[in-house]
Amino acid sequence: MQLALSTSAQVEHYLQRSKSIVIPLGSTEQHGPIGLIGTDTLCAQTIAARLGAHRGVLVAPALSLTVAQFNRGFAGTLTVRASTLLALILDVLHSLADQGFQRIYLLNGHGANIAVARAACQDFYLERGRMAGAVPHCRLRSWWEYPEVDRLRRAWYGSLEGLHATPSEVAIVMAAEPEHSARARREGEALAADAPAPLSAAFLRDHGGDNHFDAASHRAAFPDGRVGSHSILATREHGEALIAAAVADAARDLAAFEAEQ
Ligand code: NI
Repeated sequence: MQLALSTSAQVEHYLQRSKSIVIPLGSTEQHGPIGLIGTDTLCAQTIAARLGAHRGVLVAPALSLTVAQFNRGFAGTLTVRASTLLALILDVLHSLADQGFQRIYLLNGHGANIAVARAACQDFYLERGRMAGAVPHCRLRSWWEYPEVDRLRRAWYGSLEGLHATPSEVAIVMAAEPEHSARARREGEALAADAPAPLSAAFLRDHGGDNHFDAASHRAAFPDGRVGSHSILATREHGEALIAAAVADAARDLAAFEAEQ
């Protein structure tokens, strides 16, 4: 059930049977030679939409303009400040709480959203805790951390999964947007065919969750936009399997979240 495709009366009716909502979090940024700009949003949106259809849970429009300052050196990337995103998420959480939603599930597709969304939830609890009434709970999950998704991507790609323009995210978009993905793959194949150098343990420690430096040094370090990811290993079949695994894991996780006191 999609919020944007519902009437207000339908949402009122929904709130009589459920207090849960899913918010996909994405980005608008370069994803290497064959990955689409909307990759993170498309991944989160696709998994959330299928979860919504499977569980009958309401799905909000994706937040797709997020923090990607490190990719500003690549055409097509749009970024907002971390403080802007924090304020946006906080306002959305308050809007939902005002209407009676009690379980807010943030389904994330972009590493740089994690720190900001967690900070927004903390401010939300602070502000809501000072108001009368029950304080809604939020849960943040990135799709790649669902257990079966993580098992598949390790089995298929190993260290070539990398951190950005990953074969797993490119595969999901191939399944979700086959036409656009096939064209991007044809045009970028030569560049993406070179396996990138593996990332060091020190780099993974310091830069996980997209904890990168400024845009100029990021582009100098990763000139084709991939961060240790061999995107070309992606297939549409992998994408279908990753989506199915993510939806099954997310459905279990959402049910556990709803059952919490
Ligand atoms: Ni991404």
